[in-house]
Amino acid sequence: MSNQIPEEVIEEVRKANDIADVIGEYVQLKKQGRNYVGLCPFHSEKTPSFSVTQEKQIFHCFGCGKGGNVVTFLMEMESFSFYEALTFLADRSGIKLPETGVRKESSLSIESQNVLSAYEWLTKLYHHLLRFTKDGKEGYNYFKERGISEESIDTFQLGFASKVKGFTAEFLEKKGFHQQVLVKSGLLTLHEDNSVSDRFSGRVIFPIRNHLGKTIAFGGRTITDQEPKYLNSSESELFQKGKILYNFDLAKKYIRKSSEAVLFEGYMDVISAYQAGVKNVIATLGTALTESQAKLLRRYVDTVVLCYDSDKAGTEATYKAANLLRQVGCQVKIARLDDGMDPDEYIKTYGPDAFNDKVIRASGTYMSFYMRYLKKDYNLNLEGDRIQYVENVLTELARIDSSVEREYYLKELSNEYNLSMDTLVEEIKNHRQNMGIHKDKREKKRYTNSATKYYQSKKLLPAFQNAEKQLIAYMLKDRSITDKVQEEIGGAFNIDEHKIIATYLYAFYEEGHTADVSLFIERLTDQTIKQLVTEIAMSPVIENISDQEINDYIRIIRAENNDMASIKTLKQQQRIAEQQNDPLKAAQIAMQIIEIQKQLKNTN
Ligand code: UTP
Ligand code: MN
Repeated sequence: MSNQIPEEVIEEVRKANDIADVIGEYVQLKKQGRNYVGLCPFHSEKTPSFSVTQEKQIFHCFGCGKGGNVVTFLMEMESFSFYEALTFLADRSGIKLPETGVRKESSLSIESQNVLSAYEWLTKLYHHLLRFTKDGKEGYNYFKERGISEESIDTFQLGFASKVKGFTAEFLEKKGFHQQVLVKSGLLTLHEDNSVSDRFSGRVIFPIRNHLGKTIAFGGRTITDQEPKYLNSSESELFQKGKILYNFDLAKKYIRKSSEAVLFEGYMDVISAYQAGVKNVIATLGTALTESQAKLLRRYVDTVVLCYDSDKAGTEATYKAANLLRQVGCQVKIARLDDGMDPDEYIKTYGPDAFNDKVIRASGTYMSFYMRYLKKDYNLNLEGDRIQYVENVLTELARIDSSVEREYYLKELSNEYNLSMDTLVEEIKNHRQNMGIHKDKREKKRYTNSATKYYQSKKLLPAFQNAEKQLIAYMLKDRSITDKVQEEIGGAFNIDEHKIIATYLYAFYEEGHTADVSLFIERLTDQTIKQLVTEIAMSPVIENISDQEINDYIRIIRAENNDMASIKTLKQQQRIAEQQNDPLKAAQIAMQIIEIQKQLKNTN
């Protein structure tokens, strides 16, 4: 093993961090029977095939095959090293890891580690300047004037970058950072005379934190009328605008609680809303919502409320974001602000309660937004345009699966444009037929979950293979069954991987461990074997299996073994007969082989 942290400590850390809690911070998990299921964070999917069991403390994805325990999950998810994953879990549960000689290997390059550390220092420096110094007073006043409380300034670690030339550079150099790294990372700007200055000098600072709460970039807003209004850190290994959402770390727990996220366009919107008590709030970073952000959101929530600026640009962006979110399977709701306002202005004008009640809670469906949005392309006073418009709305309406919802909008259309309900219903029916939508088929499909489908397809495996898997599933949860199997068949499983698992398992119990899949896979190094074990451990087993049933499995495995052994011997004899030029004997042997194979097929 590559670490020297004592086994007991690893064990303690693992036990203190329930796998469903930890994974629940990345994936919305829903209880299904004894397990939890959710959308797999390791591959793209719309129906959940990712399972987590608390009882066994493991996860497995029936779609992509990934599986493991809580430590493996974090290593995959965060690209953590083993040591980083363990440290993360230890911190999470308030356990202090002993100082060891372990090289604290990190998944980040040395340069990125340095930059990350510079960001941490600078976040503190900027915040301190704003909060407590004369130099930062203008930044402080700026936020005060915008109605941002001291508590929010602290929560969001808002700051101010000093205008004093060389101040930031000197501070960082004193902390031991090399100028070259700081310039390369874009924190400092290098001038022609070789002097350096703070890239954000004179701006108020919005630290941009990743999902773990670490600052990985800054957004700096001018407090005069400098261009650009917002200056962001440049992209790097640490900071990719399209993959991160502002305030995700703080909003996460509120997002989980409500199964809903409110998405804004600006940092200030997030801060104002959070301060107004709407806390499941996040924002993109000055670019259009990306597929990667949409998918990230989908893993956490069913519904996203879009709350963009109510100007033309904001409406266009809403349309694009809404469709992207719908494509990845999110429900979308759209908040409406007064003309030309952005969320922050709305809160400032009408107050937190109005924002909560009249904007967020009153947000409408995608369809009603779309009906409004589409109007911009038509002059509805003209009959031709009106017909076109209604046609367009109907095409979109036809995609909606719920007939109740369809009817709701049809009524709206019927009222607004004085069209008969019968005609509209008929039109929709045609559209749906043309689109090949047969609602029964669709609805059925939605309710077959992929784990079930997976087991159904696996039933087609040969009987001995199923028997081996089932037997291993019981061995994983019961030492006495393992002992019995070891005695009766030892390593004589027919599938190589199963042989390997059995061998490790015998050793595991012989070391004195009790049944514990999560600990068992901790010790496996081979990725394929690990995944196979989690897959097997996830298969449904009978609580109190009888000896008779275990014996049946053993019998099937042995029979396959014997048959395989006799076929092997016969094939050897057949070859010898051929070499000895005895075609009659060779043919007889061939017949025997066919006979055994036929029987095998029948029993399978
Ligand atoms: P907005 O221009 O809508 O700003 O840009 P805002 O959020 O209302 O900001 P305030 O209220 O004037 O302070 C929305 C987002 O677009 C990005 C920022 O992330 C901003 O929060 N942006 C905007 C830039 O990156 N650069 C810019 O020059 C402007
Ligand atoms: Mn604004």
